[in-house]
Amino acid sequence: MLEVIILAAGQGSRMQSSTPKVLHTLSGRPLVAHVLQTARRLNADRIHVVVGYGAEAVQSAVASADVQCHLQAEQLGTGHAVKQAISSCQPTSTVLVLFGDVPLITEKALRSVLAKAETGVAMLSATLPNPAGYGRVVRSAAGEFVAVVEERDATPEQRALQEINTGVLAAKAERLVGWLDRVRNQNAQAEYYLPDVLGLASEDGMRVEVVCSDDDFDTQGVNTPQQLEQLERLHQGALADQLMNGGVRVSDRSRLDIRGRLQCGRDVRIDINVVIEGDVALGDAVSIGANCILCDSQVGDGAQILPFSYLAGASVSAGAVIGPYARLRPGSVIDEKAKVGNFVEVKNAHVGKGAKASHLAYLGDADIGPGANVGAGTITCNYDGAEKHRTVLGENVFVGSNSTLVAPLTIESGGFVAAGSTITDDVKTDQLAVARGRQRNVDGWQRPVKPSESE
Ligand code: UD1
Ligand code: MG
Repeated sequence: MLEVIILAAGQGSRMQSSTPKVLHTLSGRPLVAHVLQTARRLNADRIHVVVGYGAEAVQSAVASADVQCHLQAEQLGTGHAVKQAISSCQPTSTVLVLFGDVPLITEKALRSVLAKAETGVAMLSATLPNPAGYGRVVRSAAGEFVAVVEERDATPEQRALQEINTGVLAAKAERLVGWLDRVRNQNAQAEYYLPDVLGLASEDGMRVEVVCSDDDFDTQGVNTPQQLEQLERLHQGALADQLMNGGVRVSDRSRLDIRGRLQCGRDVRIDINVVIEGDVALGDAVSIGANCILCDSQVGDGAQILPFSYLAGASVSAGAVIGPYARLRPGSVIDEKAKVGNFVEVKNAHVGKGAKASHLAYLGDADIGPGANVGAGTITCNYDGAEKHRTVLGENVFVGSNSTLVAPLTIESGGFVAAGSTITDDVKTDQLAVARGRQRNVDGWQRPVKPSESE
């Protein structure tokens, strides 16, 4: 049986934040959520999470039927943290310990540690050009594992070692229990260190299997805002590479942020400073202009999202053109070849095939028929102060500029609204609706003059 224990009880004081460290986000998701996702891929029989600082918030972030939380009321160290969960593990289980602040650890690395743990105890190390802050792996002259020494307890010679402890270790539960009982806190931080169990194992004459990670950054821990920023950039770079490997044309790998899942068809182009959140799907030959944000949206083949547009919960069909500076809010459904232009806001509205709202409009709770044309400055008055109402425009309706459409309202197909109208009554097929004051021209008009000029 395999049981995974994820340590997530620390405050993370070096983050200088009141948010528990494991809830800081990487690529839009809490650090601990990444670890949990990887743990699930191992098909563990049970997953334990040790919570402490901000326990309620961490617990609700990981809440799920397959997760059991354990409270570490006082954070007395990583060894002490494992103790809080291990009493719930089956003695014969293989226990894999993961740190909630090492978010990008890979399934592959964990599987190789588990394979080595079958006979005894195994840990994952990495060799870093800059090992500052990590526990160092001390080996004998013959290269055998001896112990992990934390940086603050290390001699200058030990600090010069570049092989570090990633925090990942695995052993049978009953063995871990025995070693954890023997761990003492006589060290620089007066904490019960988990890696001390490895030293105890080797003292007992048991071979500690060290798996050396060959990844560049997947084993890095997050302890400071700088480390989080660096890891985010490395991770985002890797995501951009994956897209480019699939043929996506990314203008600058350092100016794309994917905080969720992005699916792309062929010949997609993504310009600079684009942010993707939640689930976003782009069809073939879609282009996303500079400075766009897309959250939980789909964009059909050949559609263009022009610069500075913000889409959230929107569905855009093939060949549509959105922006520049368009805002599509949840429930926006834009049909084929429709156009939503600059400074147009759409919410809970269906814009039919080939319909156009090219400039400066608000379309809320509306159905805009195929081929309709909504002039600049037109708004749907969907809210009467208490309730929302719908505006329905039929096929090929023409709404002149600066019109106010007071919902509930229906303008049947071919209806025509004169510019500057405030429309409160339904308009029938092919009617013209004019609802504005008539123009009056006054002959011989004398301009007002200032009193000083009239003297
Ligand atoms: C730890 C390791 C270090 C390793 C590094 C890898 C120890 C003593 N040191 O150092 O050898 O190189 O990780 O990233 O283990 N936690 C608890 N309860 C506690 C203390 C910590 O749950 O009482 C959790 C934290 O929330 C965190 C993880 O354990 O998720 C690691 O703790 P952290 O304080 O970040 O340890 P490091 O100093 O990074
Ligand atoms: Mg850490």
